[in-house]
Amino acid sequence: MTKNYLDVATEIALEAGKILREEFDRPANITYKGEADLVTQADKRSERCIVERLTKYFPDHGIVAEEGTGHDSASEFRWFVDPLDGTTNFAHGYPCFSVSMGLAQRDTLIAGVVYNPYYNELFCGARGQGATLNGKPLQVSKIDKLAASLLCTGFPAHKRVASPNIHYYWDFTLRSHGVRRDGSAALDLAGVAAGRFDVFWEFGLNKWDVAAGILLIEEAGGKVTDFDGKPYQLGGPMILASNGLVHEETRQMAYEISQRDPSAPLQR
Ligand code: IPD
Ligand code: CA
Ligand code: CA
Repeated sequence: MTKNYLDVATEIALEAGKILREEFDRPANITYKGEADLVTQADKRSERCIVERLTKYFPDHGIVAEEGTGHDSASEFRWFVDPLDGTTNFAHGYPCFSVSMGLAQRDTLIAGVVYNPYYNELFCGARGQGATLNGKPLQVSKIDKLAASLLCTGFPAHKRVASPNIHYYWDFTLRSHGVRRDGSAALDLAGVAAGRFDVFWEFGLNKWDVAAGILLIEEAGGKVTDFDGKPYQLGGPMILASNGLVHEETRQMAYEISQRDPSAPLQR
C-alpha cells in the first residue's frame, strides 16, 4: 500500500518541480509574509498543483500545506507539503530549492519525497522499504567524529533576532569540517540521508519542512531526535538529525553551548 502512496507523491512532486523550473526562468514576483519572509508566484502555483492532485487521488486525506490551501480531515492519513522549500534562494536565482511532500499515518511517517528540479535530484523513501536518490539506494555517512564531520543548519526568516542559532553555528563551525547554510531544510535533510552531510540541526522548523526528510534519513540508517535525545516530535522546537554515529557527540556539544552562553538557551 505504502508503495502506491510513494508513487503518487513522486508523480506529483515531479509535476510541481516542472512548475518551479518554469517559474525560475522568469523574473521573480515577490511578496512578503514578514520582514525577510518571501513568497512568490511559484510557491502558490506549485501548492495549487500539489493540493489539487493529492485531493483527486486521496479525497479523504488531510493536507497541511505551507501556503494555507490544504484541508484537514478525520482521516488517519495526513500529507505535509512544502511546495517550494528555499523560496529566498529561488527568488535570488540561487538554484537550491525543492518540493517536499511527507505522508504520516497517525503519528508515523510512512512516505516522503524531496525533489530538486534544478539538478533533477529525486529523493524518495517509504517506511520499511529504504530511501533512494534517482533510483539508487541511499545510506548515511560512516563518519564517527564531530571534528571530521560536515554539518548543515538554517536560520528562520521570521523573528530572526529571537533565534539562538548563531551561537551554535559559531561553535560547530570551529569544531567540525564546517557548517553549510544552504537555505532548504528539506534538501539539508535529504543531504544527510545521502551521506553528503553528517549532521543537520535547526530551531523552529515547521512540519512541512521536515516530514519527508526525516523519513528519508530514518530509511537511510540515520537518527532524528531533539537536543535532549528524545524522539523528534513533528513541529517540535528543534531538530537534530545525523548519521547516528556522531549524534551523541553533537548533542553533548549543543548542551555545552546552551550552558555556556545564556543567550543560546535550548528552547524547551
Ligand atoms: C525555509 C528553508 C530554510 C530554513 C527556514 C525555512 P521556506 O523554508 O527551509 O532552509 O532555514 O527556516 O523557513 O520558507 O523557503 O519554505
Ligand atoms: Ca520550508
Ligand atoms: Ca516553502
